[in-house]
Amino acid sequence: MDADQPQPPVRVERRPVDEAESRRANGPDWDRYADEYQATHGEFLGDVGFVWGPEGLTEAEARVLGPVADRDVLEVGSGAGQCSRWVRAQGGRAIGLDLSFRQLQHSRRIDLGSGVGVPSVLGTATHLPFADASFDVVFSSFGALQFVSDIDLAVGEAARVLRPGGRFAFSITHPTRWMFPDDPGEEGLVASQSYWDRTPYVEVDDETGRVSYVEHHRTLGDWVALLADAGFALMRLVEPEWPEGHERVWGGWSGTRGRFTPGTAIFAADLR
Ligand SMILES: C[S@@+](CC[C@H](N)C(=O)[O-])C[C@H]1O[C@@H](n2cnc3c(N)ncnc32)[C@H](O)[C@@H]1O
Repeated sequence: MDADQPQPPVRVERRPVDEAESRRANGPDWDRYADEYQATHGEFLGDVGFVWGPEGLTEAEARVLGPVADRDVLEVGSGAGQCSRWVRAQGGRAIGLDLSFRQLQHSRRIDLGSGVGVPSVLGTATHLPFADASFDVVFSSFGALQFVSDIDLAVGEAARVLRPGGRFAFSITHPTRWMFPDDPGEEGLVASQSYWDRTPYVEVDDETGRVSYVEHHRTLGDWVALLADAGFALMRLVEPEWPEGHERVWGGWSGTRGRFTPGTAIFAADLR
């Protein structure tokens, strides 16, 4: 969801990257990009709004989280907290967690402007600073999960902090998009690499030689296995269709592609 972000000169590679290196790259990357991200997408997201992805499907329409009123809710990769603010407006006790300090500063700015505050902490999806069984719902809207290398830890952490029967819901780039160039035009409709190649997408800063951005890919089957292994039962897999008349381009997401291939996958799973 951030493929349109401006970068210093980088070279793109495919190679293994561990959790420490992913985090070292993605935290500062989101700090650098946060101002532009909020300026470009803030209005579409809505200060007190919950969209699951560039197609614009809202939680009010999708109802993937289940009831949130009077529930303890954690958003992982909360960014500026728009989704958590919407949950709060519905009566839920939502709190946010994000790796980027600058994103959390935007969250605070919007708290003050909107009058709906989201308590938020700086942290990572693979090490949640909360006691076991603290939440009824854990969710993530394009936050964290595709940026994490140790995904079994992140899914395990969601399970650990959920109460029995609690819901884990998250959106990610639809795994089938991995096959295509990240191009919103017709080039982006031509499969050019293997769906089964999980080698991470890596950007390396040309000047410093440091990894500056990482994304990790898992197939649909990988996600089903990850959830089952962590003790979840998969309840729904939502693949939002591109709405008629929706012409907004967001990175590699566009009507040109969205009319043919799914761009977002939303999983909802309950802890057994
Ligand atoms: C595409 S933004 C989504 C934010 C928000 N949900 C939204 O829709 O605007 C991805 C967010 O994930 C955060 N993130 C990346 N890696 C993370 C990690 N390991 N743990 C927690 N958050 C992470 C980034 O800092 C960024 O704010």
